[in-house]
Amino acid sequence: MAEEDRSKDVLPTSEVYHPGIGSYQQVYRESLESPEDFWSKQAGILDWHKRWDKVLDDSNPPFYRWFVNGKLNASYNALDRHLLHGRRNKAAYIWIAENGDEKIVTYDGLYRRVNNFARALIDLGMKKGDRVIIYLPMILEAPVAMLAAARLGIVFSFVFAGFGAGALAERINDSGAKMVITADGAFRNGKVVELKKIVDEALESTSTVTTVVVVKRTGTDVQMDEERDIWWHDVMKDSSTYVEPEWMDSNDPLYILYTSGTTGKPKGAVHGNGGYSVWVANTLRWAFDPREDDRWWCAADIGWVTGHSYIVFAPLFLGLTSIMYEGSITYPAPDRLWEIIDRYRVNLLYTSPTAIRTLMRFGEKYPKMHDLSSLRVLGTVGEPINPAAWKWYYEHIGHSNCPIIDTYWQTETGGFMIAPPLALGLPPLKPGSATFPMPGVDPVILDEHGKELKAEEKGYIAYRRPWPGMFLTLNNDPERFKKVYFEKYPGKYFCGDYAIRDSDGYYWLLGRADEVLNVAGHRLGTIEVEDALISSKEVAESAVFGKPDPVKGEVIVAFVVLKEQYQDEPDIVAKLRKRIREDLGPIYVPEEIHIVKTLPKTRSGKIMRRVVKAVALNQLPGDISTLENSASVDEVKAAIEIFSKETRKK
Ligand code: WT7
Repeated sequence: MAEEDRSKDVLPTSEVYHPGIGSYQQVYRESLESPEDFWSKQAGILDWHKRWDKVLDDSNPPFYRWFVNGKLNASYNALDRHLLHGRRNKAAYIWIAENGDEKIVTYDGLYRRVNNFARALIDLGMKKGDRVIIYLPMILEAPVAMLAAARLGIVFSFVFAGFGAGALAERINDSGAKMVITADGAFRNGKVVELKKIVDEALESTSTVTTVVVVKRTGTDVQMDEERDIWWHDVMKDSSTYVEPEWMDSNDPLYILYTSGTTGKPKGAVHGNGGYSVWVANTLRWAFDPREDDRWWCAADIGWVTGHSYIVFAPLFLGLTSIMYEGSITYPAPDRLWEIIDRYRVNLLYTSPTAIRTLMRFGEKYPKMHDLSSLRVLGTVGEPINPAAWKWYYEHIGHSNCPIIDTYWQTETGGFMIAPPLALGLPPLKPGSATFPMPGVDPVILDEHGKELKAEEKGYIAYRRPWPGMFLTLNNDPERFKKVYFEKYPGKYFCGDYAIRDSDGYYWLLGRADEVLNVAGHRLGTIEVEDALISSKEVAESAVFGKPDPVKGEVIVAFVVLKEQYQDEPDIVAKLRKRIREDLGPIYVPEEIHIVKTLPKTRSGKIMRRVVKAVALNQLPGDISTLENSASVDEVKAAIEIFSKETRKK
């Protein structure tokens, strides 16, 4: 079938997209003053099957709906349209294996694989609205699976391949997935992580999954259940098949991505098709100003939102060529990142402060081994970047020629919220500041009571109006969506971070204002670690918190009280570490586990984590005197004394 025939129903609507749209201030002002016109224009970055009736429906806050009644398909926008507009033979991905092998897949090649896998999904009984879990490493089958699901309106939920069986089972259960797409194993630092085994274990505590599709990557021995499991290469039967994209409502869900909160289970952030797609495409363009023949490398894992938005959707919507790297950036040697940049003449690099600090520790010798002159723009994401790391990145990697695009955002926001707008006019950069809001983003710094703070005053950052990339809701839990994000400051989105706006109007993000941890740029809940500990038969109580770390930003510390009968259990710390690794995944394993006899509590029996943390970090426990129940103060003090005496690091 000819490409032209495949797309005859599509009407590329709305104004043609014009790059070079003027200076930042002017664009920003326009975005706030005439949002309808502004977003109508920006939405033209995509092809719509049917134009929307209304740009924004805000009649049922906080359930804001963008591009109401518009219809489109994300995989069509990522693939089909490029075949019609001169990018058929352009590389979509240059994929590099951990062992250095390379595979280049063109837009046409990706299109054919996605159609092929979409056909397989149909043959396996999947249809619009069904849920599928994708649990894959950094291999090309990951974007293929995501785009094939998107093509059919199957809602995917990607689970980072570093998560353990417990975390995976929880996500399968919450999403109600009928299918899991996985691999036999993943290569990581020269070793194999046996993913299929983890899936088998997770499926013991779930009941909705009827099919498991398995990519052969490592050649590891796997147990295939005849009724349930099928090989990827056995379902990819027809590489010339065409599957009509499902024309999705702008506000139909595209994917669910789980992220940690302060309480309870991880939250399933639901992103839609229209607003999200418009947002990721425009934010990538505004912040990084990519050019047609650039090579873009977002060095995140595809399982986190950074990978979803900026390895898969945004670069493919813009028709860019991406580098996708399977392995760890320090394997086989600490120059791996620099070597790839040199070998592939990478132009735009997007990574995390933790990665920069890790590589910085190995010294300048490693970047000096390579020619990094192809780099034009450098980006970071995930956590505040300290000025020392910023400067190292700027001087030793960018040779003082590349702007640092520090992008501040969250899983829930879909794409960048505050970031230097390179394509719209770059302000002078200040190391450590994410600078200014993206067009349409209206931040405010508030105190505890919702009073607006002045310049240079530290407070909570919130947003005064919705933006297109905002998540639609939390899966199965609209009440929690309202409560967590919109209750603290009615009418505003509360994101849980501290920030300052300086007297020049620059934003400085200062870290989480809640019990959520940020370890190596990944948001993790202390509550999940505590739950994993408490579900171990030996553990009576636990308190988990974050400790500042020069490389990872934060590391996890746990204090544990054992049940009476397990007081003398041998190797208990090693056992607990193993259990957390298997249940939640290696990133959740605490750096320190301390076994203690007691933990400070309030009279009502609530463990005072704040106090534990203060004592453990040698800070003053401070506000124990402000406890509502003043009688518990002595109790707390006494507990702290025992606790300090008995604390022994294992
Ligand atoms: C939290 C969101 C955004 C994709 C990766 C993390 C912190 C993120 C920055 C930055 C300071 C940052 C915030 C935010 N954060 N980027 N450039 N400067 N802090 O996504 O797991 O949803 O975590 O990461 O605390 O709330 P996430």
